[in-house]
Amino acid sequence: MSTILIIDDDDQLRMSFERLLQEEGYEVRTAASGEAGIRMVQEALPDLVVLDVRLPGMNGLETFKRIHAIDQKLPVIVMTAFGTTETAIEATKLGAFDYVIKPFDIPQMLATIRQALETGRFMRSPIDMDVGPDKTRGEAIIGKSPVMQEVYKSIGRVSATEATVLIRGESGSGKELVARALYQHSMRNEKPFLVINCVAIPDTLLESELFGYEKGAFTGATHRRVGKIEQASGGTIFLDEIGDMPMNLQAKMLRLLQEKSIERLGGRETLPVDVRIIAATNRDLEHLITTGQFREDLYYRLKVISIWLPPLRERTGDIPLLADYFLARFSSELGIENPGITHEAMSLLVSSPWPGNIRELSNTLQKALIFNRGAPLSLEDITQAASGDPQKGNPHETACDESIRTWIRSLLSKGDQNNLFENCLDHFGSMLVGEALNLTGGNRSRAAKLLGISRPTLHAKIDKYHLKIETSVK
Ligand SMILES: Nc1ncnc2c1ncn2[C@@H]1O[C@H](COP(=O)(O)OP(=O)(O)OP(=O)(O)O)[C@@H](O)[C@H]1O
Ligand SMILES: [Mg+2]
Repeated sequence: MSTILIIDDDDQLRMSFERLLQEEGYEVRTAASGEAGIRMVQEALPDLVVLDVRLPGMNGLETFKRIHAIDQKLPVIVMTAFGTTETAIEATKLGAFDYVIKPFDIPQMLATIRQALETGRFMRSPIDMDVGPDKTRGEAIIGKSPVMQEVYKSIGRVSATEATVLIRGESGSGKELVARALYQHSMRNEKPFLVINCVAIPDTLLESELFGYEKGAFTGATHRRVGKIEQASGGTIFLDEIGDMPMNLQAKMLRLLQEKSIERLGGRETLPVDVRIIAATNRDLEHLITTGQFREDLYYRLKVISIWLPPLRERTGDIPLLADYFLARFSSELGIENPGITHEAMSLLVSSPWPGNIRELSNTLQKALIFNRGAPLSLEDITQAASGDPQKGNPHETACDESIRTWIRSLLSKGDQNNLFENCLDHFGSMLVGEALNLTGGNRSRAAKLLGISRPTLHAKIDKYHLKIETSVK
């Protein structure tokens, strides 16, 4: 469970924000001044700090600088009112994760919090290489095949240099994991590591996200924004899915790599920047060059040092190792005894094509474990878990949708009602949570995994819906 520290002198805000975050399943600490906040950073070791810039006593910027000096990898989100955005911008220049303007939009704030926590996790959670299957916690790069040995060697050779690295491989083959390992073994491992996914951010926003902008650069640019490249100064940026970066940005990237400088959008000033670039793609860059979608000069600049991750079907010898590792790790996470796997089921894993590579293998095993009742995973368990969404293509689905619609219409036809929306969602929420608990025999860890929520959030929902849990005996 992630711990978030809120530093704000506004009692009202602190309390309501604390409640909101607790409902989202976070552990929350609060402080009303910069001094108290700094003490808590040292004592409570939070995973994220949300800091107001206007504070009595030590001001927000000074507080930020002190926190940053204690732990450069601790993500800090700065809260500001309109009049004090300059301070917030200053803080992002110095490495704050982001800033939000009060009063903030809750879903947006929660999204920023999730991103910041993920970034923090990327920086802090260590990735081991080449460990045995007895490793049950944390992340590791598993594989003993000759191709993987080459990957380890490349990581070793490259990480001590400042070179730009291009990681290539099919989806789910471990590119992100390798990028994080490269960062963790690099000389910049005390500095920030920021991830930019070129596909997840719309083309129109990607440029300003990376390079920042000056006030007035375009309609809606009401104040200066510091881009991620500037923010990661001294550190590393992971440009994921670079094959999907628009052409105009590719030109800017090339300039960054060659001249080590950037300009903010609408800015005249050339700013020197010191970032290491690690890029990844699952696209066929050579083909994209022939179709005019990728710049050849950028391609040559990037590919000088590249690491290629083989698809899982080309290193089937690693599958038993990976399977043992995932079974041990997920069982421990779910708080269950590792049931093991039958010989036939393991053979099926080894002979499957795994188009989604390690991600698909890991998802399959996780699903099989969630529904497992103690016996070693069988052929059937694996086929069922691998068969994907059981709802997909189900002819009952449309009939079921129709009856839900009829029910909703009957509710709506009763005219204006207080909290109809909330009540309706609660009705579904309680059915969803109830069924997940039924299916997993009352095991909360497994039910939370199944629902894609944290255990504390599940607990909050069980309380909210007054659900009674019957735990089945194995
Ligand atoms: N060698 C490995 N050992 C253990 N786990 C691995 C290994 N490679 C990948 N994984 C796990 O598989 C999942 C997918 O890996 P990752 O996200 O790094 O893939 P990717 O190549 O970035 O995929 P995509 O192109 O879809 O973004 C992650 O959960 C990762 O931890
Ligand atoms: Mg990836």
